[in-house]
Amino acid sequence: MPDQGNEASIVALQDEIKLLSNALKRERSVNKKLQQKLEDNAQINYDNNKEFVEAYEQASLRQIQLQFLSTLTANIYEEHDLRALASIYLSNIATFVDIKKSLVFESLEGNVSISTFTSENAQLKEIDDVQNTERVFNYLASELSHTQGWLRLSEQHTQIVGTLLDWQTQLSPIACLLEIAEDFKLIVVLDASHYCYSEDFQQTMDMSCQQFQTALQRRHGEIELAYNYHSLTSTVAELKLTQRQLIQNEKMASLGQLAAGVAHEINNPLGYVASNLESLKEYVKIFESALPEKVDDPAIQHELEFAKEDTTPLIDSCTNGLKRIADIVQSLKNFSRSDSNTLSDVDVNQVLEDSLQIVWNQLKYQHTVDKRLDKNLPLIHGNDGQLQQVFVNLMVNAAQAMPDGGKLTITSETDDDYVVVKIKDNGKGMSAETKAKLFEPFFTTKSHSGGTGLGLSVSYAILEKHSAEVDVDTVLDEGTTFTIRLRIHPA
Ligand SMILES: Nc1ncnc2c1ncn2[C@@H]1O[C@H](COP(=O)(O)OP(=O)(O)O)[C@@H](O)[C@H]1O
Ligand SMILES: [Mg+2]
Repeated sequence: MPDQGNEASIVALQDEIKLLSNALKRERSVNKKLQQKLEDNAQINYDNNKEFVEAYEQASLRQIQLQFLSTLTANIYEEHDLRALASIYLSNIATFVDIKKSLVFESLEGNVSISTFTSENAQLKEIDDVQNTERVFNYLASELSHTQGWLRLSEQHTQIVGTLLDWQTQLSPIACLLEIAEDFKLIVVLDASHYCYSEDFQQTMDMSCQQFQTALQRRHGEIELAYNYHSLTSTVAELKLTQRQLIQNEKMASLGQLAAGVAHEINNPLGYVASNLESLKEYVKIFESALPEKVDDPAIQHELEFAKEDTTPLIDSCTNGLKRIADIVQSLKNFSRSDSNTLSDVDVNQVLEDSLQIVWNQLKYQHTVDKRLDKNLPLIHGNDGQLQQVFVNLMVNAAQAMPDGGKLTITSETDDDYVVVKIKDNGKGMSAETKAKLFEPFFTTKSHSGGTGLGLSVSYAILEKHSAEVDVDTVLDEGTTFTIRLRIHPA
């Protein structure tokens, strides 16, 4: 029985062992699977980490590029000077790109110079004594003019650049053309380190170039705007002046018509009074020869004798007076023609004489007039009526500057290609302030006595039309000289 019992327990044990070994087998297989899974996970982890590091690196590079673009924008939008704008662009590039070597061609009004800069020193340094710079510039320019950004140079172009300087490069350099103004262009050639040649990098560089062009366009726009504004302001000022002069011209024209009308009216009676006087002179001669013998009374005879002696001088004086009136009338007629614009050969001495006639009335009592006219003065080309207007204005001003009398000196002379007229007074002169504003329309120091302040501005406009030069020499309390230079043969 115990054997039976033993056997039974052995069988039971064997069963148990079997069970256990089965369990072990299962465990081992589970373990193996778990190990495999662990290994798989480790691999995934490793891959993920690698991707993450790469993405991180990529992001940092992107950040650097963005940083570059935003700094560039901030810098170039502050600058106004075109040349400074270009050097700001280059110095930004120098901090962004690891530049080993560089060449900058600067073409200004057709002259090409070259310089260099590096990341360590962004200041352009000119390189002297380089041959053929213009040819290489044009060669590169024709290649680059088609692109709107940076271009990798072909081997051929690289070689050409290399021949300029002893320039050995392993990679092809990149280059771009910057058109700063019509006759101001830069070509920048950079030999940069290899990591720069990614697609991202290329994009960033192109964008920087576009930013630069935009800043340039904006600056050009500003310049044009400022220029337009300036020319608009001066046009407005010119218009105002023209308007004032038109008003004055209008006034002068109607005054001229009035003067012409009066002159015409006076001419007729003047004619017959003059011819009557001639006849009267003849008649008086007849009376003279007959009268004294018929009178017996010695007292009357004496008076008659006196009258007889006085009559001829009286008539002569009347004739002289009439001649003066005729001269004045002639001058008035000339004056009335001052609004016409016709040019002709002008005898400046004659115009001075006519002008003096017109202002004579203001001068004759208290002033002496010293005429120093060059008899051999050549003719000039101009408008006599308008020149007369100028001389009359100057003479009237001179007379008004000497209210208590003085000396007016009128000179004409030849100096090379010019007829020079001087109108000089020894009156009150002018302060520096007055002298500065002299030719401004409506500037007058005589508002109390009805000055218009237009005489000199109108005169100036007339002289400008004659391409004449005016010079004023004045000393306070001593006098003033106006010098006018009229070209004998205007170009
Ligand atoms: N010969 C002169 N001497 C001193 N001042 C003068 C003389 N000519 C012109 N001026 C000054 O220039 C100003 C402007 O002259 P003008 O244009 O002829 O205007 P107006 O005579 O009506 O004042 C005068 O008011 C006067 O102050
Ligand atoms: Mg005046």
